[in-house]
Amino acid sequence: MLARSAAHAAPGLRFAQGDLGAVDAEAAYDLVFSNAALHWVDDHPALLARLTRAVAPGGQLAVQMPANFDHASHRTADDVAAEAPFCEALGGWRWGDRVLDPRAYAELLHRLGWARQHVRLVVYPHVLEGPEAVVDWVRGSLLTTFEERLGPRFPAFLERYRALLLERLPAERPYFYGFKRLLLWARKA
Ligand SMILES: C[S@@+](CC[C@H](N)C(=O)[O-])C[C@H]1O[C@@H](n2cnc3c(N)ncnc32)[C@H](O)[C@@H]1O
Repeated sequence: MLARSAAHAAPGLRFAQGDLGAVDAEAAYDLVFSNAALHWVDDHPALLARLTRAVAPGGQLAVQMPANFDHASHRTADDVAAEAPFCEALGGWRWGDRVLDPRAYAELLHRLGWARQHVRLVVYPHVLEGPEAVVDWVRGSLLTTFEERLGPRFPAFLERYRALLLERLPAERPYFYGFKRLLLWARKA
């Protein structure tokens, strides 16, 4: 994505790779915008404090991130991660609950001094052919981090995940996959 984005560079617009968890800037930006990325970083109170510091007076924060971690599609990954032999292979690592409740973000934005804010939770409806299609969906997102950590053990993890998830989801065709996402917006005085 970054390699392709270089073609769109223009005066005042450049693209660079960086760790969003390491953003360390002081009133440097009029807008901090993030789409579907903040959930990869842990400790959101600390992360939002750093992003807040990076925004100039009058500037804005606009974030979208998945908040579907209470769905069986996501819980099952952590449940399988707790089973042998995956637990040992992962060194006890879990995805966990790093994305907070919507109200917690509203409180956080208030405490961090944002003058205006709008926090919304939206359920995006995805009508899939059947419950097995959820495995493909999650395979390309959440499970990539398990794949990175498990290496050659990942195919066995995926098979166990598939079996357990299909026990848990209703065998409905089509299958309605409601996917929650959080939308945060805030402006400084
Ligand atoms: C679902 S993609 C979204 C990409 C893009 N923002 C978009 O809207 O199409 C999530 C991206 O976050 C990146 N990512 C994960 N951890 C990150 C980190 N600590 N710092 C910066 N980017 C990270 C991943 O590499 C991936 O490209």
